[in-house]
Amino acid sequence: MRLDEKLEQYAREDYYPFHMPGHKRRLMGMKEDNPFSIDITEIDGFDNLHHAEDIIAQAQKRACALYGAKRTFYCVNGSTAALLSAVSAATTRNGTLLMARNCHKAVYHGAYLRGLKTVYVYPQAETSYGLNGGILPEDVEEQLKKYPEIEAVLITSPTYDGVVSDVAQIAQIVHQYGKPLIVDEAHGAHFSLASWVPVSALSCGADVVIHSLHKTLPSLTQTALLHVNSDRVSESLISRFMGIYQTSSPSYVFMASMDSCVGLLERDRKALFEEYRKNLFSCREELSKAEHIQLVPESIKGRSGIYDYDPGKIILSVGKCDSINGSKLAEILLEKYHLQMEMTAENYVLALTSIGDSKEGLERLARAVLEIDENLSAGVNTDALKNSVDSCLDTGNIVENATRQDTRALSCSNNSYKENRQQAVYRISEAMELPVELRKLEKSVGEISTEFVYLYPPGIPLLVPGERITETLIKDIFRFMKQGLDIQGLSDYNSEYIAVVAVHR
Ligand SMILES: Cc1ncc(COP(=O)(O)O)c(C=O)c1O
Repeated sequence: MRLDEKLEQYAREDYYPFHMPGHKRRLMGMKEDNPFSIDITEIDGFDNLHHAEDIIAQAQKRACALYGAKRTFYCVNGSTAALLSAVSAATTRNGTLLMARNCHKAVYHGAYLRGLKTVYVYPQAETSYGLNGGILPEDVEEQLKKYPEIEAVLITSPTYDGVVSDVAQIAQIVHQYGKPLIVDEAHGAHFSLASWVPVSALSCGADVVIHSLHKTLPSLTQTALLHVNSDRVSESLISRFMGIYQTSSPSYVFMASMDSCVGLLERDRKALFEEYRKNLFSCREELSKAEHIQLVPESIKGRSGIYDYDPGKIILSVGKCDSINGSKLAEILLEKYHLQMEMTAENYVLALTSIGDSKEGLERLARAVLEIDENLSAGVNTDALKNSVDSCLDTGNIVENATRQDTRALSCSNNSYKENRQQAVYRISEAMELPVELRKLEKSVGEISTEFVYLYPPGIPLLVPGERITETLIKDIFRFMKQGLDIQGLSDYNSEYIAVVAVHR
């Protein structure tokens, strides 16, 4: 079957999306439902994104006014191109970037392209549910003191899981050291648009803020905004790099979707967010009644560097269940209830919600989870579920001593960096250009990787080129693979071999 046919068939079925894009496959503000009828090129009267002076310039100004930024750039290549541009504009070639270790791979790719030395600040470990916590302002300051050559600081807030760091405090410190702060707020395009969601980094003094409109708002996939909020990063350099990293044929369908999304928010955001709040919180209330499956509560705020939390990210933790793991829960939700989750981790699943969600959709999720939970109480399917967990742990010699308890703090996006920090021997750009040889993964401990390894989603590297491979990391990778989690980054798609530096330093 062709892709278009498969998608058309899928659209006719009753699968409900608890994943991106935030329009949840509804038109929302857009009126035209035939994308071909508005798919044009730079013809007279329709401006040019790469030289915007007219209707696109006005559209960018509307987005800028909505968010209260100094200047806003449209991006049709997602937050990915916006992050590449921000990193490139804020640093010099071969310079130094202080970045959160739990940044999206796009930030690492930016460092690669600019030949940067990367210095890391690590998120706190949230131990109750095994999430990555926030970035502590004092940790940022410690690195700024230690490495005066740092040119810019980049953190991700919120994380994929909805964890928000104390951006205001971090911005204050970064500015004391005379550097710019870039915040990857890809998952927070809805921040500050209602009083019950977290405040945007734009109001906290960040210098550049990046939003994926498509993640949490009703806009087409690939649509993003880059906001410049001060003079600390050159607007003209941002403009130059946005011109380099984006296509020279920006889609008018995407740009129309962005302007329509902004228009919808200008007009109706109060009502849309109020409806969303009611439906979301009644769903959260129902979910909190589950006995075995735990809804990660908003009360995780205030510890582990978690300054604020986005309640729109519904995280269903099975860390305390012996008979089910994250993959199994996602599988049941999909196969039995036709509910597609955004992300599956070792011990939890993540449902992404937005103003695009319907009351019925959220009710379906609550009903399904409570029914699965009841079955867990009654022991229904427990054997089948347990087999799947046990087989996850049967991963051969290299992981023979690993127990599920060990893995709880290490899973997926919540890699416990305390226990598992690799030493960087080369810069990313150096390592990726050295002669390589292939090693069996299980024989690669002690070698220096020339490849990334990450789970997708969330696309946060577990291993970065130039880092020395540890035994803990290899154990984690094998365990994740056994759990059916999606390991990516290796050139060997079967994840049997890894390319390592041929001659060590
Ligand atoms: C934290 C974070 N930043 C950036 C990106 C890249 O965003 P986009 O898909 O809009 O390019 C992602 C994608 O999932 C992400 O999770």
